[in-house]
Amino acid sequence: MRVEGRDRKIASDLLAHYDIHARRLPWRAPPGSNAADPYRVWLSEVMLQQTTVAAVGPYFAKFTQIWPTVQDLAAAPDADLMAAWAGLGYYARARNLLACARAVTHDHGGVFPNTEDALRALPGVGAYTAAAVAAIAFGRRAVVVDANVERVVARLFAIDTPLPAARPAIRAATDRITPDARAGDFAQAMMDLGATICTPRNPACGICPIREGCDAVLTADPAAFPVKAPKKARPHRTGHTWWMERDGHVWLIRRPDRGLLGGMRALPSSDWSDMPDATPPLPLRWTRVDEPVLHVFTHFSLALAVHHAHVGPDMTPPGMGEWWPIDRIEEAGLPTLFARAADAARKERKADARN
Ligand code: ADE
Repeated sequence: MRVEGRDRKIASDLLAHYDIHARRLPWRAPPGSNAADPYRVWLSEVMLQQTTVAAVGPYFAKFTQIWPTVQDLAAAPDADLMAAWAGLGYYARARNLLACARAVTHDHGGVFPNTEDALRALPGVGAYTAAAVAAIAFGRRAVVVDANVERVVARLFAIDTPLPAARPAIRAATDRITPDARAGDFAQAMMDLGATICTPRNPACGICPIREGCDAVLTADPAAFPVKAPKKARPHRTGHTWWMERDGHVWLIRRPDRGLLGGMRALPSSDWSDMPDATPPLPLRWTRVDEPVLHVFTHFSLALAVHHAHVGPDMTPPGMGEWWPIDRIEEAGLPTLFARAADAARKERKADARN
């Protein structure tokens, strides 16, 4: 059966379920109301890209406390925002966040535009975010497809083309089942379903509110959808990083705006490659921590060797940087990789000091 009635029933069954079971999340308005604050919706949607609801929670609370409106965020110094974002990853999002807040404040009088097209024209707002904000904050009918929705829809219609080639078909199917009214609730209901019932492994089909409309549940293995193309192996790289210490301070740099961890504070480090340049920034008596810090980025994994040394008063590390108090290193907003490298170096230096 692939009739309009089925598509409509999927939406109405799902919305009825959402009215009772919607997750209460800090950026959400209650089901059926149109009271969501566009700033909070936009902020949450940017944070939730590639990041779980559980991880986003404390960051969302911190950001909205420090910067309760888009104008407040627009006025934030870049360094404060990057530091507050530290640990969330995908740092280009943070730079785009600031660019977008400033555009809304300076070009739109501090009011978010309320159509998908106008939202899409803001810096860093892609097709997904524009659709999500248009639907959730402004009640517009928009087709919202994130990874959860992609999985739910691939199962509903048993779409067996592998990803990413299946995306146009998934989008067209999502369009068909998206209702004219309550598109924002519908999108969030799909996300909740994907997060709680139609999970990647072991979906709970027995309690699914839209199982009657689902093709995959009739197959031997509903979890086999969406079909994934074989993964390419992730390349491995190595690198070096240097902890330089003097009088209770450590030398921190700011990474170039463009590129990985762009604009973040960090320890100085080499290139990350097959054959990184191991020349340290200063000729000192270096000690290397036994175990490198292992970190997995989207496109490669990294083994970062951590070196540490004391710097005498007669030397200054090359380039721009600052001496940061070690007992306040948590406030530097180091991204996770460098926070772990800093931990490793500090632990060893403390142990050395005791011996
Ligand atoms: N993931 C992305 N956006 C979301 C939202 N609004 N609610 C729950 N999960 C989400």
